[in-house]
Amino acid sequence: MARKRKHIANLEQVELTDIGNKGKAVGRHGEKVVFVSGGVPGDVVEVKVTKKRRNYLEGKVVKVDVYSPDRVEAQCQYFGVCGGCKWQNLSYEKQLGYKEKEVRENLRKIGHVVPEEFHPILGSEKEYRYRNKLEFSFTDNKWLTQEQLDSGVDFPERRGAGFHIPGFWDKVLDIDECLLQPEPSNAIRNFVRDWAIEKDMPFFNARSQEGWLRTLMIRVASTGEVLVVIQFKEEHAEAREALLKELDEKFPEITTLQYLINTKQNDTIYDQDIITYSGPGFIEEAMPKYSGAGELRFKIGPKSFYQTNPEQAYELYKVALDMAEIKKDELVFDLYTGTGTIALFMAEQAREVVGIELIPEAIEDAKLNATNNGIDNATFYAGDMKNIFNADFIAKHGKPDVLVTDPPRDGMHGDVVALLLELEIPRIVYVSCNSATQARDLGLLAEKYEVKQSRAVDMFPQTHHIENVVQLVLKA
Ligand SMILES: C[S@@+](CC[C@H](N)C(=O)[O-])C[C@H]1O[C@@H](n2cnc3c(N)ncnc32)[C@H](O)[C@@H]1O
Repeated sequence: MARKRKHIANLEQVELTDIGNKGKAVGRHGEKVVFVSGGVPGDVVEVKVTKKRRNYLEGKVVKVDVYSPDRVEAQCQYFGVCGGCKWQNLSYEKQLGYKEKEVRENLRKIGHVVPEEFHPILGSEKEYRYRNKLEFSFTDNKWLTQEQLDSGVDFPERRGAGFHIPGFWDKVLDIDECLLQPEPSNAIRNFVRDWAIEKDMPFFNARSQEGWLRTLMIRVASTGEVLVVIQFKEEHAEAREALLKELDEKFPEITTLQYLINTKQNDTIYDQDIITYSGPGFIEEAMPKYSGAGELRFKIGPKSFYQTNPEQAYELYKVALDMAEIKKDELVFDLYTGTGTIALFMAEQAREVVGIELIPEAIEDAKLNATNNGIDNATFYAGDMKNIFNADFIAKHGKPDVLVTDPPRDGMHGDVVALLLELEIPRIVYVSCNSATQARDLGLLAEKYEVKQSRAVDMFPQTHHIENVVQLVLKA
């Protein structure tokens, strides 16, 4: 016999006082902390409990009794249903305040470090339409909201294109307008979806793994160039040709149009051949040089990594370079260099820069970017950091005067931190998208380094994500 779920009554009059784990608002219910989605600090709310643990509860707002003065109207029509942009109902000023507070507290509580100078957070000029890359999924069974279900209206057409509902790998919310990317992003997605519905083509079903249209990636560069990649599950050559032709004609803004037929179970395109229908097969991003004398150009193909908020990436790199305090005769290392953007940004200030990165294709892009920008004092190496960055590497390439590190969310491997302690490099700049793991690593590095400066840079408005840059100086 199936076990009955115990009914948990809604929590009444919960006062939300702070922001906690994963950007959720925090309140209390008796002895227990409650993490609440859909509310902002300052609200008094009724909460439906979705998870019950010994020390805490999780839930979502079902009714707001008192509205916080920090609340603002969410701009996106899909707010609360779509998984992205969960902080849209909190004023941007307050978003920045909570992000800065999280960084400060993580450094203090996890790393037990207090920077000598804690600079104010650098907000993003663009609060919306700041992303250069979005990926949409097609579905033959689009998600219906509770309101739609309650409306009594029939929705016989269930094909759609948009984002996955949080927590559901097989459920997709159909989107008409996403406010994260500049146009022609929405127009392109809607055109492809509507064209395929009109021609009665089958959309992908994640459970049965059947259907034709699978995913759509759109990259809109700050140069105005647009790259579009359509992923099909199966080949229907005539329909595919017709769609690509019409898309290409309708949107002259598209500078590269590509497609792939992916018959695998998963959507990842990294192990797939991408076929170029029109254009050179890449787009270019431009970033002003630090010196102000001209700009750097970066080639971006369908598989290349590039910071998703390009304007803020420039601000982030400037903060990092300011903290690096590089002199013209110095050797600089850039760990976790990706496609070499930080290394190349710093190259004009240094004698030589060396970038290291796991992904060989990214290193190929980095080398190409160096050549295309006429930079001849940058070298790049591919390998797992904990293996390649070792005493032999230092013996061969020299000990850096300055080291910049920008690891993934997990932070640096223990062996990498241990080598940094051993090497006693005069200055380290630590860029991180996860201040908790950054704090952990800083706590270890504090044995030999002073944590001089810290500055958070907001790359992702309307979300709880935050990037932080820290300057470490070797103790005398
Ligand atoms: C946060 S990104 C940094 C990107 C780059 N600094 C930029 O601004 O564009 C982290 C990079 O670390 C790389 N990476 C992840 N694990 C690694 C490892 N074990 N060894 C070397 N690089 C790694 C990823 O491929 C990614 O390019």
